[in-house]
Amino acid sequence: MGWRSSALRPLPGLLLLLPLSLPRALREAHCPEPCSCPPDGALRCPGPRAGLTRLSLTYLPVKVIPSQAFRGLNEVVKIEISQSDSLEKIEANAFDNLLNLSEILIQNTKNLLYIEPGAFTSLPRLKYLSICNTGIRKLPDVTKIFSSEFNFILEICDNLHITTIPGNAFQGMNNESITLKLYGNGFEEIQSHAFNGTTLISLELKQNAHLEKMHNGAFRGVTGPSILDISSTKLQSLPSYGLESIQTLIATSSYSLKKLPSREKFTNLLDATLTYPSHCCAFRNLPTRDLEALYCFHDPQVGQNSRLGKQCLKGILCSLRRYSQMRH
Ligand SMILES: *[C@@H]1O[C@H](CO)[C@@H](O)[C@H](O)[C@H]1NC(C)=O
Ligand SMILES: *[C@@H]1O[C@H](CO)[C@@H](O)[C@H](O)[C@H]1NC(C)=O
Ligand SMILES: *[C@@H]1O[C@H](CO)[C@@H](O)[C@H](O)[C@H]1NC(C)=O
Repeated sequence: MGWRSSALRPLPGLLLLLPLSLPRALREAHCPEPCSCPPDGALRCPGPRAGLTRLSLTYLPVKVIPSQAFRGLNEVVKIEISQSDSLEKIEANAFDNLLNLSEILIQNTKNLLYIEPGAFTSLPRLKYLSICNTGIRKLPDVTKIFSSEFNFILEICDNLHITTIPGNAFQGMNNESITLKLYGNGFEEIQSHAFNGTTLISLELKQNAHLEKMHNGAFRGVTGPSILDISSTKLQSLPSYGLESIQTLIATSSYSLKKLPSREKFTNLLDATLTYPSHCCAFRNLPTRDLEALYCFHDPQVGQNSRLGKQCLKGILCSLRRYSQMRH
């Protein structure tokens, strides 16, 4: 014991020094070339900069990402901004006219309250935009991105203060096809024409624990979605319009969804995982030729399934698939 305590004795002194020297070291370490990151000021990363394709900005001491912050960085493919509690605002045209830019990640910036409209403009190659765990109160404006990439992925997650998806929210973002991963946010409501003007491959709304209302016209003006996930939401109903494109419906732990639209509205449904066994029964009992089998999964992880007889059992996860799907 004696040798150990004497060896440890100098340590408390060291620990005292660390907190004093760390913030300054971090500030310097995390302002990569060619950027300047004045504490409480505005980030500037002027280009052109030959060979610079990835810019990773963490522990930024700046408050603002101003208009044209990355001007001239015409080879940059990915910009990541994360773990930056000082950041409060992203101004209009911050990400503007970056013709090679394919990915933007803005994550874990809890004091970021404002992303001005038009912050993302003219990014034709953008394929992935992720904005997660920030303090923003409105869905960021993505309508001036004008990307022409196939299967553009927009991820908006863990933003607890965004309450609404307004009409035309994704218009102009991309002219090909998109996947929307919108999970774990503060959403309460999805308005009419929310997805108007998009070709929607997949719409993930899971874990929006306060989401109660989806306007009946939410899918107006949309091609798709093929996949809809509303698991762990408080949705009480689905829109009656626009369900015909859905092939996969996932609604686990959707306890408020007591009533489903009638089976006939889901003309292309291949695969459904539902909360209430009675919903499976309702679907099964219809004399449809498509639906050749109904399976109830006791444990979807393990994939143990059993063909259901006459009765629908209580308390088991209910899932149904077209028989042809089960075979591959
Ligand atoms: C995109 O980057 C490449 C090099 O990586 C460069 O040659 C090209 O000029 C850039 N495109 C634009 C539009 O600046
Ligand atoms: C999307 O825009 C690009 C570039 O303007 C164009 O080449 C492409 O054909 C458009 N795609 C669709 C589906 O309109
Ligand atoms: C839906 O989008 C189209 C353009 O794609 C637009 O002309 C129309 O006004 C929008 N509808 C509503 C109700 O916002």
